[in-house]
Formats: sequence, C-alpha cells, structure tokens
Amino acid sequence: DMSGIDAGKKAAAIAAVNNHIKDQQIVGIGSGTTVVSAVQRIVERVKAENLKLICIPTSFQLDVAIDGADEVDSNLVCIKGGGGCLTQEKIVASCAKEFIVIADERKDVAALGTTWKKGVPLEVVDLAYRPVQIHIERLLGGSAKLRLATQKMGPVVTDNGNFIIDWVFDRPGDWNQINTTLKMIPGVVETGLFVNMAKKAYFGKADGSVQVRE
Ligand code: A5P
Repeated sequence: DMSGIDAGKKAAAIAAVNNHIKDQQIVGIGSGTTVVSAVQRIVERVKAENLKLICIPTSFQLDVAIDGADEVDSNLVCIKGGGGCLTQEKIVASCAKEFIVIADERKDVAALGTTWKKGVPLEVVDLAYRPVQIHIERLLGGSAKLRLATQKMGPVVTDNGNFIIDWVFDRPGDWNQINTTLKMIPGVVETGLFVNMAKKAYFGKADGSVQVRE
C-alpha cells in the first residue's frame, strides 16, 4: 500500500544520509518524492550535529550525490526521469565521486521493465521529437511516445525547455550499448538510463528496514 511505500522511501533515504553524509562535504541533491525524505534527514543532522555542508544541484566536484530512481537492475543500472527531470540529475550524478540511489523496495529488480512499465524517458529538443521517435523505433523497436501533460493539453516541457519521449522497450538488453545508440540520435539531449553511475542503492521496506546493494 501507499503508506508502506512511503515508509520504504523514508527508510532508504534516512539510511543513505546517515551513512554517506559527513561534515564539510559538498552534496548534490536530485529530485522526486524519495529525495524529500533525504533532504529532511540532512536538515535534522545539520541541526543535531552542527554539520557544515554545501548542498547544490550541480557542480563539477561533488563528494556525494543522492537521488531517487524509477527502477534499479541487478547491475545498478537505473531508469530515471519518471518525474520529467533527468538531464540535470545525470549531470549532478556524473559530477559526484559517489552516486547513491534511494528507493522503496518495489524498484529493486533483476531486470529493467519488471515493475516500471513506462519505459525509458528521454529528453529531446522539441522540434526533433517526431524524427527521434522514428529513429528509436527503427533502431531499437518498442514504442516511443511523446509525454503529454495530464492537466493541460500538449506535451510536457522540461526544466530545460525540451520535450520528453518515453521509450517502452520490448525486452532488456545491453543497456550501455542501448544508451549510446539513443544518445547518438540527433535531437536527443539526454537519456534516463544511468549506466555505470550508481555506486550503491538503498532499498527501504514498509517495516523500516533497508537493503543495500552495490
Ligand atoms: C525525476 O524525474 C526522477 O528521476 C526521480 O528521481 C525518479 O522518478 C524517482 O522519483 P520518486 O522518488 O518520486 O519515485
């Protein structure tokens, strides 16, 4: 149920912040519902332990970045961007010495596409969305859908003023190669596939326990 999932998110966030945040660090923060608990825990620790931290959304030198994910496979390959942010998150993750993922236990899977059925989000230049869709489906199969806003008519627009395509793939594959193929398509700004980036993943359960994978 939802309250159990929320408890799992919170447990993962608290454990990761307890284990990975130290005094004097420069910390990158992503986005999503799970990260809210991480920020709350950071605030608590800053107050209680008088920590001196610099928390920033992007930089070229971060000690640690903590972020949520939509799904995490056995190799710690992540799908991100379910909430529409992925380019800035990938930049943040790429700048950190340690990228730590926090999620509720539903997202802990052997292979991508097990519970997350919305596919891999890609940020694309607006005028390129149609050719990008065609290229993806020709090169990799599956179906590439333009993400539409639920409230208003028309496409979702990202923080960077671009559109989102959700590529629903037929089956898992070599994600490193797939990521490169996607990224090489003209008009693709960034992909929501985070390959060889996460160092550890914290998965929280409803009972508050946490499983760590690396
Ligand atoms: C934002 O677009 C994402 O990459 C999030 O990090 C991801 O969707 C996880 O979000 P939740 O923690 O809200 O599930």
